[in-house]
Order: sequence, then C-alpha cells, then structure tokens
Amino acid sequence: MARLNEENLERARRLVAVYPEPRSALIPLCHLAQAQDGWLTPEAMEDIAGLVGVTPAEVHGTATFYDMLHTEPVGRHVVAVCTNIACMLAGAYELLEHAEDRLGVSVGQTTGDGEFTLEEAECLAGCDAAPCVQVNHRFVGPLDPDGFDELVEDLRSGARADEVPRHGILCRVERTVGLLATDPTGEAERHGDPAAGGTAP
Ligand code: FES
Repeated sequence: MARLNEENLERARRLVAVYPEPRSALIPLCHLAQAQDGWLTPEAMEDIAGLVGVTPAEVHGTATFYDMLHTEPVGRHVVAVCTNIACMLAGAYELLEHAEDRLGVSVGQTTGDGEFTLEEAECLAGCDAAPCVQVNHRFVGPLDPDGFDELVEDLRSGARADEVPRHGILCRVERTVGLLATDPTGEAERHGDPAAGGTAP
C-alpha cells in the first residue's frame, strides 16, 4: 500500500508550515494523499497523522466524515448521480437505475475492471443541469440514458481525458504563489522570526 511519496512528503511539510497549528493542515493533506492514490490508504493516513500530530484513528475519523474523501479504493472514474429534489423531478432515479444496469453494479460499488464507482449524491449545486451528474467532481450533466451510455464509452476510451482528471484530483493547478512557507518546518512562521523567514506578530 502506498505511503506519501517523497515529492508529496515535501509538499505536505510545506502545507503544514503555512498553518499556525499543524493539525489545521489535516484536510489539505488528505486531499494531497487522495490525489496521489485516488483514495486514502492506511499508510498515507499514518503519514498524515505523523505530520500533523494526531493519531491515525483521528485522521480516519475525520476523513470518513467527508463524502469527498475515500477511505476505500474507488474506480478510476467516480460517477455521482444527484437524486435530490430538482434532479429527482428531472428523472434522476430513472437515470441512476439505468446507470446500475449499464455498469452492472449497485450504488456504492465499483466495476470489476476498476473503471467506475457509482455513487448516489445529494444536491451537487448543479440544479440548473438536472439530472446532475459528476465524474471525478467534474460536472457532465444533464444526461439522459443515451447520454450516459455515451459518457461511459468516452470515459473508457479516454476521449474526455482533458475534461475529467484522474480520480482523487481536485485541482489540476498546483499553487506556486501566495501562501508559501519559506521554512518547511514551519517553526519560523509559527514563532514570528523574520530573520528565519517568519513574520513578526
Ligand atoms: S438537486 Fe441535483 S444538483 Fe441540486
């Protein structure tokens, strides 16, 4: 199972350093680990715990609170179909049923080839495109059953690779400006030592 790789460990240390309290970086580090592997492996959660000074159980407890963080492996494409009121009225349950038939899985399951995980979602804030569907957190709706089949073919063939990133990735643009710690240990920033790169309180 994957631990944070060297590059991400370095990024993680720098992320921790921009917060007054290391544990405030817990969620950003979870997203970093998820961008690496698509889900939060137990080993990555141990790394995060060590970096922010909490227990692995606390990392797991926090991660399981949030729908966008996965503590179990998911498919290369996480397909979320909203069934909240606006989407329900626009045929979301029929679409979800079609998706289950088309993919051969029930909600919450992953196809045998590891390509698709199907999720039922609450309002995704895309009610104007009901029934709303997201793949790897990118909007792809509104879809009817034929549109869904087309989407599946496109995703399998890679035709939407420019539009839909790898699973686990939230942001494709890495921060290179703004909040950056000059001291990756964070000590200078936390103690306001301007000589060491920190900002005096
Ligand atoms: S009700 Fe489906 S996106 Fe809002």
